[in-house]
Amino acid sequence: MLKYCLIVFALLANNFCQAQKTIDQKVDSVLKLMTLDEKIGQLNQYNDDLNATGPVTLDSTKKQQLLKGQLGSLLNCVGTLRTRAWQNIAMQSRLKIPLLFGQDVIHGYKTTFPIPLAEACSWDMDAIQLAARTAATEASASGIHWTFAPMVDIARDPRWGRVMEGAGEDPHLGSKIAYARVKGFQGNKLGDVNSVMACAKHFAAYGAAIGGRDYNSVDMSDRLLWEVYLPPFKAAVDAGAATFMNSFNDLNGVPATGNAYLQRDILKGKWNFKGFVVSDWGSIGEMINHGNVKNEYEAALSAITAGSDMDMESRCYKNNLAQLVKDKKVPLALIDDAVKRILRKKFELGLFDDPYKFCDASREQAALNDPDHTKAAREMAAKSIVLLKNQNNLLPLSKNTKTIAFIGPLVKAVKQNKGFWDVEVPGVDSNFIVSQWEGLQNKVEANSTLLYAKGCEIEGEDKSGFAEAIDVAKRSDVVILSIGERRDMSGEAKSRSNINIPGVQEELLKELLATGKPVVVLINTGRPLVFNYTADNAPAILYTWWLGSEAGNAIADVLFGDYNPSAKLPISFPYSTGQIPIYYSHFNTGRPATNDSNRNYNSSYNDLSIYPRYEFGYGLSYTSFGYSNLQMSKKKIKAGETISVSLAVTNTGKYDGEEIVQLYIRDKVGSVVRPVKELKDFTKIKLAAGQSKTISFTINKEKLSFYNNKLQWVAEPGDFEIMIGTSSKNILLKDEFELVN
Ligand code: NOJ
Repeated sequence: MLKYCLIVFALLANNFCQAQKTIDQKVDSVLKLMTLDEKIGQLNQYNDDLNATGPVTLDSTKKQQLLKGQLGSLLNCVGTLRTRAWQNIAMQSRLKIPLLFGQDVIHGYKTTFPIPLAEACSWDMDAIQLAARTAATEASASGIHWTFAPMVDIARDPRWGRVMEGAGEDPHLGSKIAYARVKGFQGNKLGDVNSVMACAKHFAAYGAAIGGRDYNSVDMSDRLLWEVYLPPFKAAVDAGAATFMNSFNDLNGVPATGNAYLQRDILKGKWNFKGFVVSDWGSIGEMINHGNVKNEYEAALSAITAGSDMDMESRCYKNNLAQLVKDKKVPLALIDDAVKRILRKKFELGLFDDPYKFCDASREQAALNDPDHTKAAREMAAKSIVLLKNQNNLLPLSKNTKTIAFIGPLVKAVKQNKGFWDVEVPGVDSNFIVSQWEGLQNKVEANSTLLYAKGCEIEGEDKSGFAEAIDVAKRSDVVILSIGERRDMSGEAKSRSNINIPGVQEELLKELLATGKPVVVLINTGRPLVFNYTADNAPAILYTWWLGSEAGNAIADVLFGDYNPSAKLPISFPYSTGQIPIYYSHFNTGRPATNDSNRNYNSSYNDLSIYPRYEFGYGLSYTSFGYSNLQMSKKKIKAGETISVSLAVTNTGKYDGEEIVQLYIRDKVGSVVRPVKELKDFTKIKLAAGQSKTISFTINKEKLSFYNNKLQWVAEPGDFEIMIGTSSKNILLKDEFELVN
C-alpha cells in the first residue's frame, strides 16, 4: 500500500513539475520572440480613460501603443464589453500578448461588502474568505483578472484615511485575515474562470505614515518592521498571492518602490516570491519628489533594480528602460525576469489560450445578480457591527415597538453605505443598495410606525432641522440616530487631523437625549472616531462602519435581535487624537503607569487617560459569557514541545450568541523588551443560551518567538504569562509557564 502511495505521489509530483515546466517553457518561447520594446511594453500599465484613482496623465495614444505591443496591463477598465474591446486591440498586436485588467476590488464588486476594517471586526475567517470569493466571482465575470487587494498594512493611527482598508493594528489577526482574503480572491487556483489574482499591498509599512498623513514617510526599526508590519505580507505569500504592490512611502529614507531590501532581499529572496510586483500609481516617478533620484531615467533604474516589475502609470519604464539597457545600466536579464514573471501569470490565468476567457456577457449577468451574493453580504455585514454599549439591555428592540423615530443624516442615504473604494459597474445604478430606512421598513411589524427626520447634515453648523427631529422623537417610544462621516471622509488621501464626529451631530444627540426617550446611536464611518459625548451619554451604541449594499437589512437584523452582535474591535479606539498612536501591545517602559490617578513620574499624560476609549478585542453581545476552569497540560516545556490550554466557556445570558475567545501571551523577560501582551490565538464559538463548551489552544515555540537584536527569530527560555479574555483588557483567566532549555 505504502509503495503504491509513493508511486502515485511521485507521478503526481512529476505531473505537477511538468505543468510548471510547461508554463515556464511557454513563457520562454514567447520571450524569445519579443523585441526589447515589446518586453518593456509588458512592464507598462496605464489607467483606462473612464475612471481614475490617481493623478491622470493625458495620453491619447494608448491604443496605438497597445497595437505596437507597448502596453501590458490596464487598470480601471471594467465590464465584459469594455475589456473585450481593449483585448481586441491587443489581439491585433504583432505577438498578440493578452492584456491584464487590474482593478481595486477592495470590498466587493457589484455586491458591496463591509469595508475591510469592518469585516475584520468579525474575526471570522470563513466569512471574510467568502466575501473575497464573492467579489472575485463577480469581478472575474466582468472582465477583471486581478484585484489590487488585500491591503494588509497594519495601521495604528485612525487619522490615516486608509485605516478603513486594512485589518487593524494587530499582526496576528492581520495575518490570518490576509491569508483568508488571498485565498478568497484566488479561489482554488488561478486559471479558474472565477478566480482573480490577489495583490498584497502596500509593501511595506505604508500604514505607519508619520502623523497619519497619507503618502508620508515611515521611519521604524527593523525589529518593528519584521515583528509587526511584515507578518501579514508573509501570510499573503504563504497563501499564494500572485502579486504584490509596493508603497508610496519611503522606509527609513529609501522609497519602497526603489527599495531592494524589501523587494529583492525579503520578498523575492528570503520569501521566494514567484509572482510580480506592481508599483503604486506613479510611485516610480515620485521617487524624484522624494529626493532619492534625479530624474525619470534614474527612477526607472532604481525601481527595476530594486525589483519593481510593473510600472503603474508613471511611464518611467516606457521612456527610459531601453536607454538604460543600451547604456548597460540595466542588464537585459533583469528586464527578462520581470517580463517572465508577468507572462507566467498571464499563462496561469489561461489568457494565452483564450484572451476573452473573462469576457462572457451572460456569465457576467448571472454573477452580478446571484442572490447568494446578497445573502453573503448581509451576513457579513451583520457580523461586522460592533455593539459598544447597551445600557439596561435597551437592545434588541421589539419588532412590535409602537412608534420608532429614525433620525439622522445617514438614515435615507443610499450610496454612502458603500464606503470608500466602490466600483462603478457599467449598467448598474446604486438603487439596489438597501438604505437603513428600507432595512427598518423591511423588518418591523405592520403595527409599528416609523417616523423620520434628518435632523442635520453630516458636516456644517446648521441646526434648523433639530426642531423637527425633536418633535419626531417626542412622538416615539424609541429613537434610533444614524450619524457619522461621509463615505469619502476616509480612504486614500482622506487623512484627518480631527477625527471627532463631524458637524453638529453630537449636539443633535444631546437634544434628543433631553427628550427623555431612549436613544440608540448608529455610528457610520471608515475609521475609529472620537465620540466621547456619545460614549458617555447614549444608552446604546452600534458601530456600524460602512456595511455595503446590504447595510440596511444587516443593521435591522442586529437592532431587532435576528442577529446577536458578535464583532470585536481589531483596533484601539482613542479618547482623543492626543493619544495616537495607541495600541494594546505596547512595551511596559521603565516607569509604567498602572492607573490614571497616579501620574507621579510615570509614563502617562497629565491631561488624558493612558487607556483607550474602547480597547482592541472589545465588543458586546446581547448575551453574556463566563470563562472558567483554565487547565494547562504542562507548566514547563522545552522548545520542541507544546502545551495544551483548555477552558470552559458558558453562555450565561438569555440569547444564543457567538463569542471570540482571545489568548494573549507575555514573555516576561527578553533580551529585547517584549510587549505587555500579544494576541497569539483566538477562536469564535457559537453557544446556545445556557450552553457550555470546552475549548483548547496549543502553545508552541512559534507562539513564543520574536526577533532578537540580530533579527533572529528566537524563543528565549524563561517565564511566560498566558491571559485569556473577552478583549485585550478584560482578561478573565491567567496562568504562567516556563520555557526551559
Ligand atoms: C493608489 C493606491 O494606493 C493603491 O492602493 C491602488 O491600488 C492604486 N492607486 C490603483 O487605484
